[in-house]
Amino acid sequence: MFAAAIDGPAGAGKSSVARAAARELGFLYVDTGALYRAIALYMLEHQVDTEDPQAVEAALGAITVDIGYRDGEQQVFLLGENVTGRIRTQAVSEATSVCAGIPAVRAFLLELQRDMARRHSVLVDGRDIGTVVLPNAQLKVFLTASAEVRAHRRLKQLEEAGQPGAYEQILEEIRERDHRDSHRETAPLKQAADAVLLDTSHLSFDEAVAALVALVRARQ
Ligand code: DC
Repeated sequence: MFAAAIDGPAGAGKSSVARAAARELGFLYVDTGALYRAIALYMLEHQVDTEDPQAVEAALGAITVDIGYRDGEQQVFLLGENVTGRIRTQAVSEATSVCAGIPAVRAFLLELQRDMARRHSVLVDGRDIGTVVLPNAQLKVFLTASAEVRAHRRLKQLEEAGQPGAYEQILEEIRERDHRDSHRETAPLKQAADAVLLDTSHLSFDEAVAALVALVRARQ
């Protein structure tokens, strides 16, 4: 088994790059953000106040979260129901960012993530995989891109979706989120001391995938 921890901020292309690299390597791609999203979905649908950590912690007792794969794509199950198609809304994103700061939520998902890495060769995409979840991973990568490049990529995505945005505003939001994610008390986003920095600011998608695959092969 080989475990690679892929951490980094949102919008750096982490999930698409890691997914493509995993396919090329024959590894499982584990999207840990989807697990946090499933928990947030439950809280939203059961009117649990995500700003109340004790209420969230109590509700965890009623939940099970599992991972499966269909045609090579990760599926996330909440209480046995496949909720993969319901976790990508703006409301879920916002609730997830609050829930992910609650220590009990992080503790709840720890064993599931570690178990995946025990049973399969994996590329695990998250925020604290190299620092907390898999401190002994054979490879740790901190995959990032400059805030300016991420803002340009986000702007392009929005334009392609027919929702033009304002560059300055997007850049400001990215900077604010980076600051919040790296300064929160529980599991702040930071590069592990032994992580390789992969800055994709000046790489094409294919170049970023090739760089990640090469890093894994060099440690196999
Ligand atoms: O990567 P994503 O956008 O699906 O992540 C959703 C939220 O969960 C985001 O606020 C960051 C958080 N998250 C986390 O705290 N730890 C992880 N391992 C993965 C995601």
